[in-house]
Amino acid sequence: MSNLRKILVNKKGTPCKSIWFMRQAGRYLPEFRKIRSQNQNFIELCLNSELSSEITLQPIKRFDLDSAIIFSDILMVPYALGQKVNFIKNQGPELSQFNLHNFLDVNEKEFSQKLDPVYKAIEITKKKLNKEKSLIAFIGAPWTLITYMLNVKSNKNEINLEKLTEENININQILNKLIKFLCIHIDNQINAGADVVQIFDSWAGLVPDKNIKDYCFIPNAKIVEYCRKNKIANICFPKGIKKKYEEFNRIVEPDGINLDYDVDPLWAKDKLKNVVLQGGLDPKKLLISEKEMLEGATKYIQIFKDIPYVFNLGHGLLPETDPDRVKKLIEFYRKY
Ligand code: CP3
Repeated sequence: MSNLRKILVNKKGTPCKSIWFMRQAGRYLPEFRKIRSQNQNFIELCLNSELSSEITLQPIKRFDLDSAIIFSDILMVPYALGQKVNFIKNQGPELSQFNLHNFLDVNEKEFSQKLDPVYKAIEITKKKLNKEKSLIAFIGAPWTLITYMLNVKSNKNEINLEKLTEENININQILNKLIKFLCIHIDNQINAGADVVQIFDSWAGLVPDKNIKDYCFIPNAKIVEYCRKNKIANICFPKGIKKKYEEFNRIVEPDGINLDYDVDPLWAKDKLKNVVLQGGLDPKKLLISEKEMLEGATKYIQIFKDIPYVFNLGHGLLPETDPDRVKKLIEFYRKY
């Protein structure tokens, strides 16, 4: 069994270790930028199975990492559900106007067919990857997808839910369809050869308090329950919910949980039980001095030395990160 999957399955086992990074395949790598410069359309690049597999393996070739995460995007799901997705340079993603009728109309077959190149990329990658290494699949959690699909987030990261009420949009109807199709997407990725799934709820911290159960905890819980029933190892990342990590963990019961950089690791060790902890280190620590980066890393390694812990960051690697810093960090972790 691959390293990461083993840790997630044996939650209470020996404090075995593993290391990988969110956004380990991306713009900070010159070899990625080269491919990207020749492929202006990001969605098309994600749908190119050979290139997607090549990009997935780029950080594995360069560094001593335990897992590969498939090169794709959480917005491939809105794309497969009928919205046009554009990535505008230095601005981020832009989706075409959401149409409820079209969205509800998409069937499972059509959805899976549109994402077939992602599954092919997983198959290709799995064949090339050393058996001890995990291949991580991922999805965006329903709420985070909705923030993009319905464009409810302002540039200042404020949420305007009243807009949806005014437009008579029934969020529960959208959540339910998303949950169903996200489970299909997980299933397809696992069948193609992935052995762990990470669920990114990157904008969980923006859910208003009164909606956190309905829009964050319950949708994540339903997806994790599906994984549990099908023995799929899973990691949740409800970024930005602060002390509500505790309630999230109690309600959702994932195999693993990724800490963001605002969560105090000592608090997490005390409060988050029956779950494998992952990540935490602020990706900005890789941009300052090497000494400060290693001090930051030491804190997490020390605190979690006697429990199963997966070394990772509190969010993705930033594009301005020096790949040599990443190398130093991995070497430091290995030697520790
Ligand atoms: O290495 C990996 O982690 C695998 C690939 C991966 C990408 N996106 C590739 C990508 C993963 C796991 C994601 C997840 C993702 N995508 C999330 C959740 C994690 C997080 O960062 O919070 C979110 C919110 C998205 C949506 C998204 N995709 C945004 C907002 C952007 C533009 C801004 C940004 O952060 O880069 C993307 C584009 C994107 N996805 C790039 C990459 C390598 C950059 C594309 C480019 O311009 O070259």
